[in-house]
Amino acid sequence: MKDFLIAPSILSADFARLGEDVDRVLAAGADVVHFDVMDNHYVPNLTFGAPICKALRDYGITAPIDVHLMVKPVDRIIPDFAKAGASMITFHAEASEHVDRSLQLIKEHGCQAGLVFNPATPLHYLDHVMDKLDMILLMSVNPGFGGQSFIPGTLDKLREVRRRIDESGRDIRLEIDGGVKVDNIREIAEAGADMFVAGSAIFGQPDYKTVIDEMRAELSK
Ligand code: DX5
Ligand code: ZN
Repeated sequence: MKDFLIAPSILSADFARLGEDVDRVLAAGADVVHFDVMDNHYVPNLTFGAPICKALRDYGITAPIDVHLMVKPVDRIIPDFAKAGASMITFHAEASEHVDRSLQLIKEHGCQAGLVFNPATPLHYLDHVMDKLDMILLMSVNPGFGGQSFIPGTLDKLREVRRRIDESGRDIRLEIDGGVKVDNIREIAEAGADMFVAGSAIFGQPDYKTVIDEMRAELSK
């Protein structure tokens, strides 16, 4: 089976018992912790910052933490997350004044780096930075909230990004975020994604393992 990663978004976790809930979802078979940082400026919602990421590390979470920055400005918060234990840091192309500099900053701080594209963000931001990318994250909803529906037009965009990654010959993860469920994950994988963020689909069910197993079963069909 292809190397697919399932990354539960802790935006839908129980914030009052965050450490326990993250432990539970990892024990249920999740690969990566997706950590949604919202600033009530770039996106119309507010979540958590680097101290919470550090708290998860201090609590004993050793799985990769995938920090999705929905903030503007981008650069000054990158070192904080690297120090707090982030493994990967992604940011929105149009939220950075200097995309190349932000990518370099992430890598200088020892994390994997990625660019995020909103549903309506053009892909031309990729043109000159493919060599600096470890991952590309396509949003399949408009950022800011969990529990929204997958925007179907994202599938064509996924195919286009998959083509560009394959053409580049580089080992770049293609992550999809928003509205991913058991009943659409296979179609999304067929369009080229290999890393799947899912918030409400996983944390909205009492038994995380059942959902994650069902997702993997769909991916192995
Ligand atoms: C949205 C966030 C997502 C969100 C996904 O801005 O980036 O990670 O939590 O939630 P679901 O899976 O519920 O669409
Ligand atoms: Zn996210």
